Amino acid sequence: MAEGRVDSMTMADGALQELIARTIRAPSSHNTQPWRFRPERGGVSVLADRERRLPVNDPADRELTISCGCALMNLRVATAAAGRAYRLDLLPEGERSSSLARMTWQDGAPDAEDASLASAIETRHTWRERFAPISVSSEVVEALAAMAEQEGARLQEIEQGKPRREAARLVAQGDAVQWRDPSWRRELAGWIRPRRLRDGLAVPGPVAPFARMVVRTFDMGQRVGRHDAQLAEDAPRLMVLSTNGDERIDWLHAGQALERVLLAASQLGLQASYLNQPVQVASLRPRLCDALGVRGHPQILLRLGYPQREPVASPRRRVAELVEPVPGLIRSSFI
Ligand SMILES: Cc1cc2nc3c(=O)[nH]c(=O)nc-3n(C[C@H](O)[C@H](O)[C@H](O)COP(=O)(O)O)c2cc1C
Repeated sequence: MAEGRVDSMTMADGALQELIARTIRAPSSHNTQPWRFRPERGGVSVLADRERRLPVNDPADRELTISCGCALMNLRVATAAAGRAYRLDLLPEGERSSSLARMTWQDGAPDAEDASLASAIETRHTWRERFAPISVSSEVVEALAAMAEQEGARLQEIEQGKPRREAARLVAQGDAVQWRDPSWRRELAGWIRPRRLRDGLAVPGPVAPFARMVVRTFDMGQRVGRHDAQLAEDAPRLMVLSTNGDERIDWLHAGQALERVLLAASQLGLQASYLNQPVQVASLRPRLCDALGVRGHPQILLRLGYPQREPVASPRRRVAELVEPVPGLIRSSFI
């Protein structure tokens, strides 16, 4: 979408679809893309799609909600870049509803800082390989921590030396616990998909059945653990994103903070990937706090650095599949 003020936007002319197309470039666990959108009179709601939950990996839908929070941040950024101000209501239909946020377009100036992040929506990708041997400056780390704080979360660095070694150990332990569990392996295998299906962890079509079979059948926890521990030790920066509370509202804040950090990082040429195992495995989560002095509730463990080459974009489903039909609503009036 062209940046700057766009006039006369309706569902019919595709502007809302354009906004949603940018929104869904957000990261999500296993690339489940667990979101839906409901056009409203004068706005749009972001809904959690619980059919895409990961009951073994994420029994409380914590990561599902964080993923939707990332999408919400993209929606905010894309809306600002389209020249629109808005009001945002989180959990507008109560704690238990699948409605996570309602955005209502408003008169007024768009948020210039949010708009300035828009170019990064397309350039942010998860980088799972080793990073280039280039250090990430303390100024950058401080700027990213301020971004997280702006969204009600905290980004703490895990320093090289003992804390880093301890974090790497917890990552490897997390891998061992997860891979030992056949139901966890089955769930992961189910999200290994041929690229043409547009979701999940995409692999070339002919490889998909074999990759799924291997993941489903073999406990590779020791090998994966050694590899991940090395990634944790070698990462230019390793950081924990945490929140004071550990409820749905906190996960929504964590997601928005995560995506703001990732977009800002991408604009500086940085990319991230995740070593969330010690957060996902319930028994290890408190140890992450004790051993590393993480304050509050850890939500995401991130490696950050400069990728060695241009990352490849992962697939996304079509916008038309994600928009709820709203009886009687002809125009969402994004004007
Ligand atoms: C809440 C959350 C948790 C994630 N956890 C992991 C993880 O444990 N391991 C991993 O490799 N990637 C993880 N990811 C990254 C996703 O797999 C990635 O976002 C998705 O495959 C889409 O790719 P992209 O980020 O390059 O667009 C996570 C992403 C989110 C938002």
